[in-house]
Amino acid sequence: MPEQKSVRQPNNDFNTKRKLMSLVVVFILFLAAFSFLFVNEQIWLVFFVVAPASVLVISIAYHLPQTSSAARTRTLQSKVITLENEVITLRKQIKTMEDNLLQTKESLAQTEKMASLGQLSAGVAHEINNPVGFMMSNMCTLKEYTYFLDQLCKHLLELMSGLTKQEKLKHEEVIEKIENTLKIEDLDFVLSDANALIDESLTGCTRIKGITNSLKGFVRESQDEQELLVNDLIEETLNIVWNQIKYSCTLEKHLNSQALVKLVPSSFNQVLLNIMVNASHAMEGLNGVLTVRTYDIEDSVQIEIADTGVGIEKRNLNKIFEPFFTTKPVGQGTGLGMSISYEIVTAAGGTITVSSEVGEGTCFKIRLPALKEI
Ligand SMILES: Nc1ncnc2c1ncn2[C@@H]1O[C@H](COP(=O)(O)OP(=O)(O)OP(=O)(O)O)[C@@H](O)[C@H]1O
Ligand SMILES: [Mg+2]
Repeated sequence: MPEQKSVRQPNNDFNTKRKLMSLVVVFILFLAAFSFLFVNEQIWLVFFVVAPASVLVISIAYHLPQTSSAARTRTLQSKVITLENEVITLRKQIKTMEDNLLQTKESLAQTEKMASLGQLSAGVAHEINNPVGFMMSNMCTLKEYTYFLDQLCKHLLELMSGLTKQEKLKHEEVIEKIENTLKIEDLDFVLSDANALIDESLTGCTRIKGITNSLKGFVRESQDEQELLVNDLIEETLNIVWNQIKYSCTLEKHLNSQALVKLVPSSFNQVLLNIMVNASHAMEGLNGVLTVRTYDIEDSVQIEIADTGVGIEKRNLNKIFEPFFTTKPVGQGTGLGMSISYEIVTAAGGTITVSSEVGEGTCFKIRLPALKEI
């Protein structure tokens, strides 16, 4: 609210002078009456007509400039006050702009940091992918080898059990070594466990490969649009973000969309990441549920990301997509996540909406134009 100032009243000098002038006129009229009654000459005419007339003229002449200068003063005073109010409003606007600029600078610095971190992770992901690739290939070969050894051991045991006494005596030394080895480890367990260990390691390597691929996808330099399934992007984002958010919620996935959409994958991953991270913040300490749903409606693909977090107050709902709107403490949120997401979704020809109930949770719905059905 601009600061209000009261308009100062014009000074009372003019009123005092007017009263003085009236007294002079009354006095002259009194002289005129006196000369008419007691002097008995024509002099009363002078007092009665000429003097009051001249006083009147002087008074009017005096009154006019006084009135106009007072009016001018009043106008000027109100102009000064208007200008002062404008200056106060402008100062406030400059302060807001300075604050916004500061926040933009901070978020730019953060973005730059994230961009270089992104490049670094993409490089690391690429480097990890190579050894993981040959580890997986080696493990597949090892699995074949253990099968071969398993068969060999079984044949050997068969052979040993079919030996005659004489034959056993003949190969006594070798048979003793085999039996001693078998006493140390249970052959059946070793063979089946070796298989299980190889399978487990293969699953681990497949996960590492999935994460590094997602990381590479996340920081793809290309800003080209691609035709893809949103489900793949959701899996990619979950691969990256799940580790961070799994402590605040459990996940429910219903990924049923089958239509292709056209968008820049790395940007859209950013949208999904922003929504999921916000959802996890809203569910901190609440053990909530993050539900991700995709399905096709008419010519579009609908993505719904719902949480059972603290919710958004009604008065804040229409500010969510505004730049710099945040309810997080200073240094924890820039308030840019959702406004950037809004830009990305609309640039892809889609819409993003939010609905929320305080204490129940929030749901973001993204609708994207579908290309064609598979
Ligand atoms: N799922 C949600 N539940 C509750 N509030 C939410 C949710 N998503 C967004 N908000 C509210 O919207 C605000 C703006 O979100 P936005 O992602 O733009 O900024 P931010 O999370 O505060 O900061 P950052 O720029 O670091 O993401 C948040 O501060 C929060 O108040
Ligand atoms: Mg955010």
